[in-house]
Amino acid sequence: MDKLAVYPGSFDPITNGHLDLLERALKIFDRVIIAVASNPAKNPLFSLEERMDMIRLSLADHPLAHRIDVDTFSGLLVNYVDRVGARAILRGLRAVSDFEYEFQMALMNRKLNNKIETLYLMTGMRWIYISSRIIKEVVVSGGDVKGLVPEVVEKKLIERLRAQKGHVGAMP
Ligand code: PNS
Repeated sequence: MDKLAVYPGSFDPITNGHLDLLERALKIFDRVIIAVASNPAKNPLFSLEERMDMIRLSLADHPLAHRIDVDTFSGLLVNYVDRVGARAILRGLRAVSDFEYEFQMALMNRKLNNKIETLYLMTGMRWIYISSRIIKEVVVSGGDVKGLVPEVVEKKLIERLRAQKGHVGAMP
């Protein structure tokens, strides 16, 4: 049986930090499903389809692409993980500041379904300071994020954010 993990998140948008984590996970798991949360309550900058498209395009030439699926989910994460037959949720940790939220989420997910475990991997040092939120902040203020996100994401961010300068509501 394939070892399968679900890597959930908002991915609004995907960054090189996410891709780094995915590659680390593929050293342990045979297959990883990137599960994009629809979470409209978070008022994402990009629609679900746009977020999924950017992920797919970022992975198009990736040598491990055949071991990665991109999917979406709504409702409880553990229900989705169970439905696809996985037993592991994968999340990244950058700094201590991530810990409290992640701890709460992992324990809640365990309470909801104790057959599913959450695994944390440390992001590579080069990506420790980046997040989707800070990337959006930099782009909206005219900063350069080259090398921090896939090229397709950089292009799309510039198109979207510079066109709607002052669009602050969509920064979760
Ligand atoms: O990238 P994010 O925004 O930190 O990802 C958070 C996400 C989508 C993984 C989390 O909000 C989630 O799992 N949402 C689904 C609802 C759910 O299952 N909530 C209970 C666990 S806290």
